[in-house]
Order: sequence, then C-alpha cells, then structure tokens
Amino acid sequence: MKHLESTSLGALEKALRNLDAGFSALPAFEASTPSADGIASVLMEAAERLRDNYPYFHPLYAGQMLKPPHPVARMSYALAMWINPNNHALDGGRASSAMEKEAVAQIAAMFGWQKFLGHLTGGGTMANLEALWVAGQLHPGKTILASASAHYTHQRISGVLKLPFEAIPTNPDGSMDCAALAQRVAHDDIGCVVATLGTTGAGSIDALPEILRLRDRFGFRVHVDAAYGGYFTLADNLNTAARAAFDCVTQADSIVIDPHKHGLQPYGCGCVLFRDPAVGALYKHDSPYTYFSSKDLHLGEISLECSRPGAAAVALWATQRLLPLVAGGEFAAGLSASRNAALELARRLSESSEWIVPFPPELDIVVWAPRASTASEASARSQQIFERAAANYLHLALIQLPARYFSHSGPEADRENVLCLRSVLMKPEHSGWIHEIMTRLNLAAS
Ligand SMILES: Cc1ncc(COP(=O)(O)O)c(C=O)c1O
Repeated sequence: MKHLESTSLGALEKALRNLDAGFSALPAFEASTPSADGIASVLMEAAERLRDNYPYFHPLYAGQMLKPPHPVARMSYALAMWINPNNHALDGGRASSAMEKEAVAQIAAMFGWQKFLGHLTGGGTMANLEALWVAGQLHPGKTILASASAHYTHQRISGVLKLPFEAIPTNPDGSMDCAALAQRVAHDDIGCVVATLGTTGAGSIDALPEILRLRDRFGFRVHVDAAYGGYFTLADNLNTAARAAFDCVTQADSIVIDPHKHGLQPYGCGCVLFRDPAVGALYKHDSPYTYFSSKDLHLGEISLECSRPGAAAVALWATQRLLPLVAGGEFAAGLSASRNAALELARRLSESSEWIVPFPPELDIVVWAPRASTASEASARSQQIFERAAANYLHLALIQLPARYFSHSGPEADRENVLCLRSVLMKPEHSGWIHEIMTRLNLAAS
C-alpha cells in the first residue's frame, strides 16, 4: 500500500493464533461464521465511505489535534476485539484490567508518582469530569477557576456538577494571568484551580509553580489539565518556563493526560490520576450484580464510567511496552521532533515579512496571522489562505485570538479577535516537512 501502513497485519494474525491456543482446553466449538463474501463487500463499502476524510496520517495534514495511532496500538486493539473485554469489573476483563493498572502506573511514574489512584477513561472530558467531581466532593459549593484559554469543557463540567465557574484572564501568550489569579483566590472561596499544561488552541503553558505557591497560601486544589501537553514532560527541548511547569506537576492534586492525543492511541483513551489514593473512598458504591469474582480491585469501583473498552488498555499497555515512557527513549524523541518542527515553522514564519507570529510555540502548536493593516483584513486573509492551502492538500486549522495578543507592530484592533492560522505538528515526520509546508503556505498566500 502506498500511504497506509499494513505490514503489521501479519503480526496480528500470528498473535491471534497464540491467543486462540490459550483456550485449547475447551471442547471444540464451531463459531458461527458469517458469509465471508458479505463481510468483504461491506468492508469495501466502508473503505469507500472512509475516503471522505482529511488525510490525518500524512504530514501535509497539519491542522487539528489528530495523530495516527501506533501500529502496535492498532493491532493490539484489534487483537483484543476477539475477546472484547470490559474493564468495568474483573469478571469482564481480567487480563486487560491488569494491563490497565500496569499502563496507568507507568504514566503516573512519568510524573513521579509511585503511590496514586488512577484509571483510563473514555477521553479527556470524562477524565476532567472525574477530577472536578472529586474537587467538588472535597470543597462542596466552592468555585472552579481555569484560564480563559482552558478547554471549554471545564466550564461545562462545572455546570454539570453545579459548581460555580470563573475564567481567569490570559497573558498575551495564552497562559493564565497569575496576577489576576492571585487577586481572585484571595477571596478564599475557591475549591480548585485548573492549570492547563498545553492549551488546546495554542499549546500555552500555565505557570504551575506560581499556581502551586498560591495553593500553599489559600488551600484550594490544583488540577493539571495536561490532556494535550502531558507527554511533553519527556521532551528534551522545552523552554525554561515550560520545563519548570512540567517539573512540578508531581505536586498537583490531580492530573489528566490523554493517551489518545499524544500517546499514540486510538480514540477512547483518556487518563485521570489523583495524588492521594484516599479519594478512592469518594467512589465507594455497592453493585448488586458486578463485583463477585475477586476481592481484588475492580476498576469500576474507582471510576464513574461503568463499561469501558479493555481493548484500549491492551493497546496502551502494548504501546508502552514497545516504547517505554522514559526521557531519552524513542517515544520521547518523537515529542522532541514535533516540538522541533514547531520551532522551525515559527522561525521561518517570523523571518518572513508576510507573516506575524504573536508568541513562540511552547509545544508543537504554532499560531500565526498574515501581516495586514487591520484585524478584519488579517482575518479575511487567514480564511482565504486556509481554504486555498487545503485545495492544494496542505491542511491547516484556524483559531480566533484576542487582537491584544499582537504587539504594536501587529494589525490595528478594529475588532476584538483576529482569525489566525494554526498548525498542530503532532507527527514526528512533520520535522522533515516544514519546507514543503512553507512552500504550499506561501503559494496559498500569493
Ligand atoms: C487541554 C484539553 N483538555 C481537555 C480536552 C478534551 O478532551 P477530549 O476531546 O478527549 O474529551 C482537550 C481536547 O482537545 C484538551 O486539549
């Protein structure tokens, strides 16, 4: 095949035979086999339908947060589908629950936690819901704070949990304004501050060391939303402030990280971690029909979701077995390569008189605007360039940024926001494609 990796399919077939052999003591049984012709023809139709997608796997797809899973994750997930384990309870997924516990412990260890409570979730939203739910249980009725550029999910989750929510203004680099935060927390009615390490829009990093200092004075919880940025703790090329923020994640009360973003996993894989395992008591519940087969921990006993795909745990476990979460390893090198790609794109954009980069990238996300005299003009140009680039197979994204993020040399603020171009350079291969991306971008702007 030309573009889509398929050599790992052979390994899947071998592994499947190995799995099958594990059940050889059972009496022979003919699984009902649906018509192979029918399956083949429907699969062909599905493939036809799936062509209606942007090419997320290709380096010229440099738009939204979309990263192909590693082949080992894809194949392990598929392998597990022959069992279809459910990690709610040990009855439904004995092996995959053990694999989830191991994989999650490795993620916690990446943040320096040996003792912790944590599990996988359906994604970042569910993981953040659990973290804020715990914060609300421990500080009932108190306010949740997050920066104005935190993911919108925090405000929505606070609404679901019936907790007051307020947004703290941002600095012109998209990070939380800690002076504004210091003023707000002094009122002593704050239950939790969400620090985002890697905002969705621009990959900005909140000043976690400062937020933790405020926690020590005022006693609120600190939840780190590292759904996007968490794995960058392994990168060797962060700037000093970002490094300092990642180095103190270990002091947070809870952390969210999404293996289905930078962890090379198929969708349906978030992760929430709590520093104090005692929060497990908040989840305590009885089930008249679930937890019978073992006295060992059933993951459903410490999670708000019930049924969850054991296959997600198998895929994550296999990926971390092949690519351990260690600084200096192959997985870490992939993150550093993505960040290098962003630094290189930002450098080339900044050197050109055509473009304006309001602030340098902290991770692997670059935002920029075409140079123009007004915010309206820059916005119209961004939209046009975005469309023209896509027509030439360069897929970028768009983002509204406050006009105040641009310095005096930026466009005149005739409207509040500037529509900017945005690129998420998640694939390590992106670092070899910046020249091609720039060429197509300049062509789209010409
Ligand atoms: C920082 C951050 N938090 C939370 C979320 C929500 O995660 P999910 O889409 O997995 O529910 C995202 C998604 O982009 C994110 O970037």
